[in-house]
Amino acid sequence: MTTPEGSGTPTSPTLTPAGEGSPELLALLAEIAAKVPPACERFAEAKDLAQLEEFRIEVLGKKGVLTEMNARMGALTPTEKPIAGKLLNNHKAQVIHALNARKDALEAAALANSLQAESVDVTLPGVRPRSGHLHPITQTTLEIVKIFQGMGFRVESGPEIETEWFNFEALNVPADHPARDMQDTFYTERNCVLRTHTSPTQLRSMMRIAPPLAVITTGRVFRCDSDATHSPMFHQMEGLYIDRKVSMAHLKGVLNEFIRAYYGPNIKTRFRPSFFPFTEPSAELDIQSDVVRGGWMEVLGCGMVHPTVLRNAGLDPAEWSGFAFGLGIDRLAMIKYGINDIRLLTENDMRFLRQF
Ligand code: DAH
Repeated sequence: MTTPEGSGTPTSPTLTPAGEGSPELLALLAEIAAKVPPACERFAEAKDLAQLEEFRIEVLGKKGVLTEMNARMGALTPTEKPIAGKLLNNHKAQVIHALNARKDALEAAALANSLQAESVDVTLPGVRPRSGHLHPITQTTLEIVKIFQGMGFRVESGPEIETEWFNFEALNVPADHPARDMQDTFYTERNCVLRTHTSPTQLRSMMRIAPPLAVITTGRVFRCDSDATHSPMFHQMEGLYIDRKVSMAHLKGVLNEFIRAYYGPNIKTRFRPSFFPFTEPSAELDIQSDVVRGGWMEVLGCGMVHPTVLRNAGLDPAEWSGFAFGLGIDRLAMIKYGINDIRLLTENDMRFLRQF
């Protein structure tokens, strides 16, 4: 009988001359020849690590082919045992080598796959986080406030629920004045209204701060009115300047300065006589605007504070005089941004708001 030579190179059972050895040995050798090479080939076919493990168990597991062949060595003669043992060990080494080769290949492929799948293309453009911004009304308000602060006006505020006295009486709006009409004014409880304008803060400021004073107020006002150009809630800005010997020239100077700062230096303004119960004389300020194709457009009401209003605030009209003005912030924003429907400003439609 030929002894298998060299390690790692399993000797083919065919090298054992036929007829030599016990029938058990011959059967075992035949089985090794029949089963080991296909097992090695099978490892090479495993499509993933899980399947490779299945195959491993089939060959090397407790009930595996090789294990079973190992058990059958017990039936061999003492001289045959080492021959078969060595042969079997050599084949086992071959099997394990094939198994490990496939395992390495599958692991390398899995790693390459996951690297490929998880790869990040750092040259792709980034996703810019969308940042919020102030509402166009707030932007407009802040812009207006900044201009007046630059001229020395300080910011005051007043309540949105106002007494009838502050909202009307004190401003020289008599009880039968149409502005008080139930259809225009939201009445809350007795003697209280949702302020219909920011003008009541004129009184509150004069009663709180000793003259001379220069104040502005911005805030929400309410009127029972609703269409494309009127909203039941809108925003106004009020201005008041009180000092000795204030004239209409001061009023014009301040308001022209404001309009030029807000709309640009070349905008044309004109003061048109008007009427408000709380100012005398009263005027409306128009600007020449592209919005109305160069026509004139009204932007605010103004005038010299009425003596009755000064008296209502406890000031002596013989000593103190002043001017006041009020404008609609929504309207200013609409003119500036070309918005044609006031309702867009309160609908909170992001497609609209994102444009500012
Ligand atoms: N309060 C007026 C309004 O709601 C606007 C106004 C006009 C305010 C003339 C003033 C003023 O201070 O002098 O329409």
